[in-house]
Amino acid sequence: MTDLVVTENQIIERILTLELVRVTERAAVASARLRGHGNEKAADQAAVDAMRRELNRLPIEGTVVIGEGERDEAPMLFIGEKLGTGRGPKVDIAVDPLEGTTLCAKDMPGSIAVMAMAQAGTLLYAPDVYMEKIAIGPGYPKGIIDLDASPEDNVAALAKAKGVKPNEITTLVMDRPRHEELIARLRKIGCSIRLITDGDVVGVIQCTEPEKTGIDLYLGIGGAPEGVLAAGALRCVGGQMQGRLILDTPEKVARAATMGVNDPKKKYDLSELASGDVVVAATGVTDGGLLRGVRFRGNVIETETIIYRSVTGTVRRIVAEHREMKKFHFD
Ligand code: FBP
Repeated sequence: MTDLVVTENQIIERILTLELVRVTERAAVASARLRGHGNEKAADQAAVDAMRRELNRLPIEGTVVIGEGERDEAPMLFIGEKLGTGRGPKVDIAVDPLEGTTLCAKDMPGSIAVMAMAQAGTLLYAPDVYMEKIAIGPGYPKGIIDLDASPEDNVAALAKAKGVKPNEITTLVMDRPRHEELIARLRKIGCSIRLITDGDVVGVIQCTEPEKTGIDLYLGIGGAPEGVLAAGALRCVGGQMQGRLILDTPEKVARAATMGVNDPKKKYDLSELASGDVVVAATGVTDGGLLRGVRFRGNVIETETIIYRSVTGTVRRIVAEHREMKKFHFD
């Protein structure tokens, strides 16, 4: 009997994989309508509304574990919110309806609508705080990078494994004052640094294809929700990642404890950030290195989505042309 239930759930999960494309497509289209309008909040709200509406149509018993914030600060898609019809598998949901709100508001490259769905209890249940992160792509011996090692040692180990000199390694870092020292140290060893203003879900994912993106290593501090979403994608394509929540006030430690984080200094590896079968979908809002943004052409809307399924390691890219917009609730 139990076996039968598991099998049915696996079939449902497989079918739901493509349903997630619809969810991120709709969130991306909703926010893309406000692309370049200079209003981060409005673009984010449009994506949140669309994503929530679509998720509530799915035959799942979903719980938001990574969301727009905690219940008292986010009216929708808050951590702990229940989503779906309630009939179907129990799943964890991680959402970032508009990743790169500023990029969208300024119509700059790299904003996406992104979400992950996984077996219940397998995604890190964490508050919306910062996370220290390190990530590399697949094909390297396990354990060659470590969050607790110096940037110099991490670059040296990676360069050795890759068979190149440290000054041939390119590291992606968010352009933030908090990274001044990190950037100076990387420059001192001749490492090339690609700086990004926002959007480190894509930043981490880009390490998985260094021959295409030119990025070997991600280092630095970004959002914890973005860390969990990127970990989901890495679980599918391979690669290594570690993350540590930055719980630097008693209040944050207490908040995290209510979500089951008992060791505030814990270093999570990939299999702890996303431990079970996970599906991650992302649709481009503005054009970027990973995805093309939404195109509005008369009564046709074009979207590009990438979807990762860890159980098989399949990565699909879906370019869609949408018509009959009213019928499909794009507005
Ligand atoms: P938003 O979409 O919420 O604006 O986040 C964008 C982002 O750049 C993330 O990709 C990144 O993890 C985080 O902000 C970094 O936070 P901060 O801008 O505070 O340094």
